[in-house]
Amino acid sequence: MDLKDKRILLVIGGGIAAYKSLDLIRRLRERGAKVRAILTAGGAEFITPLSVAAISGERCFTELFSHQDEFDIGHIRLSREADLIVVAPATADLIAKMAQGITNDLATAVLLATDERVLIAPAMNPMMWNHPATKRNFAQLSADGIVSVGPNAGEMAERGENGVGRMAEPLEIVAAIEGLLNEMPAPDALRGTRMLVTSGPTREPIDPVRYISNRSSGRQGHAVARAAAAAGAEVTLVSGPVEIPDPSGVKTIHVETAAEMLSAAQAALPVDVAVCAAAVADWRVDAVANEKVKKTGSRAPTLSFVENPDILATLSHGKKRPRLVVGFAAETEKLLEHAREKLLRKGCDWIVANDVSPKSGTFGGRNNQVHLVTSGGVESWPVLSKEAVADGLVRRIASTLNEARA
Ligand code: CTP
Repeated sequence: MDLKDKRILLVIGGGIAAYKSLDLIRRLRERGAKVRAILTAGGAEFITPLSVAAISGERCFTELFSHQDEFDIGHIRLSREADLIVVAPATADLIAKMAQGITNDLATAVLLATDERVLIAPAMNPMMWNHPATKRNFAQLSADGIVSVGPNAGEMAERGENGVGRMAEPLEIVAAIEGLLNEMPAPDALRGTRMLVTSGPTREPIDPVRYISNRSSGRQGHAVARAAAAAGAEVTLVSGPVEIPDPSGVKTIHVETAAEMLSAAQAALPVDVAVCAAAVADWRVDAVANEKVKKTGSRAPTLSFVENPDILATLSHGKKRPRLVVGFAAETEKLLEHAREKLLRKGCDWIVANDVSPKSGTFGGRNNQVHLVTSGGVESWPVLSKEAVADGLVRRIASTLNEARA
């Protein structure tokens, strides 16, 4: 993959990892990208505008209220003239300001004034990364569609400190940039399209206090909903219980059980496209107890189950069948074999197959490696962030709908 003529606006925050951003600029330029950089006041404590300018081959932007900068090229134009904005290192301070929409310098003004995709490479001390405030801010950025790479685990600049907080390496950031720029759909690719997405796990009660569920985080389904909305679709997201915030620009309906998910999905019809990314519980408890089940002597209780409705199959075979129905196949073994079998059994058009065995780190993780299985064959994608997988899927959906229209 190359980045020929892609315009990248790099915001360099105030962290020791800023020195790696110089190498990042070099790697991007090697691949043909044009890099403009904004160095924050904090960033300038670690590297100089002169070195940034020398390596990027462009002047380095520093001050919001520099009259010369605003005269030459205003902050609005800076963001418009980029295909992607990359924040590396993204400090706890920058992440907090982005999450709250605070702007008090050129970098934060550009980040607030943009509707371009933004990729952040967080870098900070592990205590700061694990702080609930940073977690909240980071979750908000994900819900706003901001994509991240890293941070990695390892030794910190502070001697003897270890933990998660190191900025991703320049080549990892380059790979994330390539993934995003190559998968990104056009902003109006799905204009006029109605889309339904299911996401997250379902929760099937045993009694008023207990339930059966699974480890789905909802990240992939939510990313698909957000990417489709960013591409202009009118999106209804039916979400099981998840810890991530509702994506921006999407109508989100919260449900618990598979039965509730099915009725919310059916209420959203008609739609042009349905993407079923939810990890629906296959069974529910037959007779849910009205009161908390108590221990009775030495006998453990026995639960009996009934099968849940299959939402994907119901939509695929229903009267109001969407023009395109996409399912996911979460497998821990024989991935493609099971995916092909599911395509037939469920009656959907595509299956996005992914390995969810513990070694893959997919469940709850931020990356995903998928195979797109259709009646025409199998296409295997590289390991991408869940956002890039969502972008790629939305792009494919848009081009398939357009071909069908033509
Ligand atoms: N699915 C659904 N409703 C169900 C079960 C699954 O809509 N009751 C959808 C999922 O959202 C996913 C696809 O079917 O798009 C495949 O889900 P998966 O859990 O992998 O398959 P199962 O049908 O549960 O098959 P198995 O348990 O045999 O793997």
